[in-house]
Amino acid sequence: MKQDLIVILDLGSTQNTVLARQIRDLGVYSEIHPHDISPEALSALPNVKGIILNGGENRIVDGAAVEVNPALYELGYPVISIDYPQSKCQTRLPALPDQDTLKKFLFEDCAAEANWNMKNFIEDQVELIRRQVGDRKVLLALSGGVDSSVVAAMLIKAIGQQLVCVHVNHGLMRKNESESVVNVFRNELHANLIYVDASERFLGKLAGVADPEQKRKIIGGEFIRVFEEEARKLEGIDFLGQGTIYPDIIESGTKTAKMVKSHHNVGGLPEDLKFELVEPLKQLFKDEVRACGVELGLPHDMVYRQPFPGPGLGVRCLGAITRDRLEAVRESDAILREEFARAGLDRKVWQYFTVVPDFKSVGMKNNARVFEYMVIIRAINTIDAMTASVEKVDWDVLEKITGRILAEVENVNRVCFDMSPKPPATIEFE
Ligand code: XMP
Repeated sequence: MKQDLIVILDLGSTQNTVLARQIRDLGVYSEIHPHDISPEALSALPNVKGIILNGGENRIVDGAAVEVNPALYELGYPVISIDYPQSKCQTRLPALPDQDTLKKFLFEDCAAEANWNMKNFIEDQVELIRRQVGDRKVLLALSGGVDSSVVAAMLIKAIGQQLVCVHVNHGLMRKNESESVVNVFRNELHANLIYVDASERFLGKLAGVADPEQKRKIIGGEFIRVFEEEARKLEGIDFLGQGTIYPDIIESGTKTAKMVKSHHNVGGLPEDLKFELVEPLKQLFKDEVRACGVELGLPHDMVYRQPFPGPGLGVRCLGAITRDRLEAVRESDAILREEFARAGLDRKVWQYFTVVPDFKSVGMKNNARVFEYMVIIRAINTIDAMTASVEKVDWDVLEKITGRILAEVENVNRVCFDMSPKPPATIEFE
């Protein structure tokens, strides 16, 4: 194994990720593990050089203070503690901005080497995947999003044709998105890829459904059913690859921190389809996942794409989805993305898209009154998607986009720009 490892044990700190980043910024790989990790599990981690007991304000869970198994002190690793009064170790790190004590701990007490980089991370993960999977097969739902694409590229490098990717086109993808997934993974990376065009099936299930949560439930539920049907056709699959990343784990709740939101990459598969999970990115932050994708040779556009919701254009074709409005969303979104890229805004603006409401307004075409749809443009910036501000898009760029949408997109006679920050608006419309 290439990288040294510092293990952070979560004893209720709200700063675990800050500390992990701080250590990685010093060039040493660090992972966060639960406080009750067994001594056997801890010593099975590769290249452990030291342990940090990271206490804090969430130390009391269900009325009792969380504690480490005292046997961990007997393993022989250097141990340091932060805000953890029960600690048996002598050395304490007084505060997180204390770089000198941290550096002394890493490089003197633990004798760790600054050998954390993406190349080494990938080599280590490839070896760990090969050890876990052996000559067996892994199934992966490849949406084409950053996380599933990077995990696919990593698994292809590790086990090649033993990986079976399934790409389900639910008909709510952006223009040419499924084609690009097939092109990159089947033609360039030579992945074993099953492409399922389930557009008609999804549109059929969604017909007449206007409630956004109902739409989300149908899209999520149907996705699992299609994936399950494909999985049942295959034989000899023991593992399920997942693009879980560290923020997903935190948001789903840890032993000391409450859940923010649940994450189901391919959750909800039936009980009899039991797979062991392969999650090589689960200790990475989003920017590290992107760096990993670049190192694995994925195209820049795929790795640095803006966030795209799981229900896709389904929540941007407002109300009950109809084919004409879905096409208007898809075509206007493609124009917006093309013009933003031309103006250099694709690397500046965090998220930008179009929506089409389910009502018409009056306009003039060929000297006649016509009632047609409107396209609303949204372009926002944010750090964490919890709050967002509106990008001040250059007027000329907006005029050009408007002109193209009115000329090229059918059934549209009006273009608006959404000026609302979050809150009170959300980023998406539904
Ligand atoms: P909101 O609309 O809540 O969006 O301000 C915050 C971020 O989450 C994305 N989003 C979703 N992502 N499934 C997803 O995978 C969803 O149902 C969903 N709804 C919103 C949204 O695009 C934004 O980046």
